[in-house]
This record gives sequence, C-alpha cells and structure tokens, in this order.
Amino acid sequence: MRTVVITGGTRGIGGALAARLRRRGDRVVALGSADADLSSPRQTVELAERLPGRIDVLVLAAGRFDQRRVVTADGLEQSFAISVLSRHLLVERLVPRMRGGTVLSLCGVGGLPFGRLNWDDLQLERRYSLTRATMQGARALDLLGAGFADRHPDRDVRYVLWNPLLVDSGMHRYLRQPWRTVVGRTAALLGEKPGAAAERLERLLDRPLPAGLTAFRRGRPVPVDGPGFDPGSARRLAERLDRAGAEHWG
Ligand SMILES: NC(=O)c1ccc[n+]([C@@H]2O[C@H](COP(=O)([O-])OP(=O)(O)OC[C@H]3O[C@@H](n4cnc5c(N)ncnc54)[C@H](OP(=O)(O)O)[C@@H]3O)[C@@H](O)[C@H]2O)c1
Repeated sequence: MRTVVITGGTRGIGGALAARLRRRGDRVVALGSADADLSSPRQTVELAERLPGRIDVLVLAAGRFDQRRVVTADGLEQSFAISVLSRHLLVERLVPRMRGGTVLSLCGVGGLPFGRLNWDDLQLERRYSLTRATMQGARALDLLGAGFADRHPDRDVRYVLWNPLLVDSGMHRYLRQPWRTVVGRTAALLGEKPGAAAERLERLLDRPLPAGLTAFRRGRPVPVDGPGFDPGSARRLAERLDRAGAEHWG
C-alpha cells in the first residue's frame, strides 16, 4: 500500500486525486489549510514533522492566488509563500525520508513562454498583479524541479512538474467580481473537470518515469533543459528560499 501525502488535497484537483487514490487502496493523507496554513513557514515545518515517517508519493497542489497583494503575518506575499516557499520547505524535509517514489508538483509553466522571476522583488512589493504572481510562481516551481537532483543526489526520487492547463476546480472563488464570474464561466466551459484531471494524474503516477525531473503540460512532455531550468538560477532560488524560511521559522 502506497502512502500518499497531498497538500491542497481537500478540494479541486488535489481533492479529486485523493478520492481516486483512496478508492484504489492507497493510504492518503489529504491536507488543507485547516491542517496547516502553508503560507506560514513555521506551520509548514511543524506539519512536515507530523507527517508519516515513510512517504511514497508527495503531491504538492496547495495554491491560492488573489488579485490584490495579500501579506501574511510573517510579511510574506501569500501566493509565493504557499506555492513556492512551503513546497521548498516540505520537499527539503520530506524527501530525505523517501526511498524512491515521486514528488508531483502542480505546476510549472508547462513550456509556455510567460512569466519571469523578479529577483530584486520576489515578494512583488513594487509591481504586484495576479498574472505576474501566478507566472512568477510557476517559473519558480520549474526551478525547484531543476535544482532537485542537485540537492538530493543520493535519492532515487522522481520529480514531476505537471501543468493541468485550465481545470474547473472553483479556484476563481478567490477573485473579485466581475472576474469571479468571467473566470468561473470560462473554466466551466473550457476547463477540464477535476475528476478528469485527477484521472490523468493517477495514470501518470502509474507510469515508469525516470528518476530526476520530468515535466508535462496536461500529459504532453515538456523539455526540461531550456533556460527556464538553468541550474545556476535553481541554486540561487533555493538559497533565497532557505534564507527566507530560516528567518521565519525561528
Ligand atoms: N485550476 C486550474 O485551472 C489550475 C491551472 C494550473 C495550475 N493549477 C495549480 O494546481 C494546484 C491545485 O489547483 P486547484 O485548482 O485544484 O485549487 P483549489 O481547488 O483552489 O484548491 C486549493 C487547495 O489548496 C489549499 N490551500 C489554499 N490555501 C492554503 C493554505 N494557506 N494552506 C494550506 N492549504 C491551502 C486548499 O485547502 P482549503 O480548501 O482547505 O483551504 C485546497 O485544498 C494549484 O497549485 C494551482 O496553482 C490549477
């Protein structure tokens, strides 16, 4: 029986995946914000300590994006704290407990030519927008994948980036009107249903993927050797996240 930990496992894509994997007999630990607020580095680190000693699959699907810049009690920009910093902190703590297995992160840019890291303003204090925050976050997740093998050379773990494109998950609930309605209707019309997105992910987890990094855009492989996966930038980001985490968990 596999032990699967899913952050963002209480609803949307992560919730649908949790339900599918439970049905097939996996032991699933599905986590939401009531289990730990992943915008808080301290709560993230404490969560990692409470999780099972052996993990076979770690799914990183927690995310939240707002039109206005939300600052956490620690002074961090919320979407970056949840989507990027918490994933780095969890992977650094949980992967040493893994013997083989898979880290699945939703999502990198999926080979799309948008977004960049604002190295002098990762918290987007000066120029925040929903698009900039979302795409910077996705670029950062590509870099966390790119740096993974470097940081864990002795771990035979697969690291998979999966961009699901548009899924009718209800993520638009965080938006203000009229965007809530516009994005909600677009997702209902053009997006994949969470159950269908989860079915793809279940199949992905059954595939014999190579160790190290692979990336997909809704099932289509994406090359991981372009400038978006630059090892120097990956190291630079990991160092910044190590410092930011250490500053906030004490
Ligand atoms: N939906 C799409 O079209 C789409 C497209 C590309 C990428 N993605 C990515 O796929 C992932 C899943 O998206 P989704 O659409 O399934 O999202 P969703 O339906 O909005 O679910 C978000 C999940 O994240 C959790 N979460 C939010 N804030 C949290 C916090 N502060 N601490 C801990 N957990 C928190 C939520 O838990 P609670 O409900 O308990 O608060 C929930 O389980 C995200 O990373 C998203 O960026 C989604």
